[in-house]
Amino acid sequence: MALVIAHISDLHLDLGARAEQRAVRVLDYLASLTDEIDAVLVTGDIADHGLPAEYTQARGLLAAVRVPVMTLPGNHDERANWRAAFTESPHSAEPINTFTRVGNAVFALCDSTVPGRDDGYLHDTTLTWLDELLTQADTDDGPSFVCFHHPPVTLHMPYLDSIRQAGADRLDALIRRHPSVVAVLCGHAHTPAATQFAGLPLLVAPGVASTVALPWETAELLDLDAPPGVAFHILDDNGRLTTHFRVPT
Ligand SMILES: [Fe+2]
Ligand SMILES: [Fe+2]
Repeated sequence: MALVIAHISDLHLDLGARAEQRAVRVLDYLASLTDEIDAVLVTGDIADHGLPAEYTQARGLLAAVRVPVMTLPGNHDERANWRAAFTESPHSAEPINTFTRVGNAVFALCDSTVPGRDDGYLHDTTLTWLDELLTQADTDDGPSFVCFHHPPVTLHMPYLDSIRQAGADRLDALIRRHPSVVAVLCGHAHTPAATQFAGLPLLVAPGVASTVALPWETAELLDLDAPPGVAFHILDDNGRLTTHFRVPT
């Protein structure tokens, strides 16, 4: 049976009505599909300021979804508060690296944030953890997905490219050693996009809170009128991945 993952990103919940309404629009749509999707992936910037109250708001909204929800932090998140909201172990400043199994698939949920900065980087301890996780996924005959917030390549979006994930050559080499990896999934760019990394699809979820304009669209960085979006990743029984981008109705 095919695996279907709904992928959203960048909710930027700030206790205000606008961000909440857009998140509700997306999550109500996903909640109506729970017989059709296996899990929801949220690739960071869940909160806008990393405040405990924003995570309380996020947990309340995400509770509408009745399938497993996989989360990881973005540059607008705050590690301690994120941990307190989504994990059992809030007291650590270390990167938040977790994994989830959905069926026989492993989702490596990596922390690409650098506290106090908007650009990203995978700490050496994160790469060591990821290498061990993917080695086990290879042994188990996969499939696996590598997920984080910051795209590890340029997307031809000047501002976003300036705050992408640095040091990506290390990750490229690591992923190429692990045949179980099907794709790399990320957020941060607030645009539905598909490109390549380490010889695999690199799929970027659209932003829920806003859309970052392309250079030829407008001089403004953010398009606040474009609707929120969702990516659906479908892995079929032959191991072939298909992605659809949708605007919730
Ligand atoms: Fe964001
Ligand atoms: Fe971000």
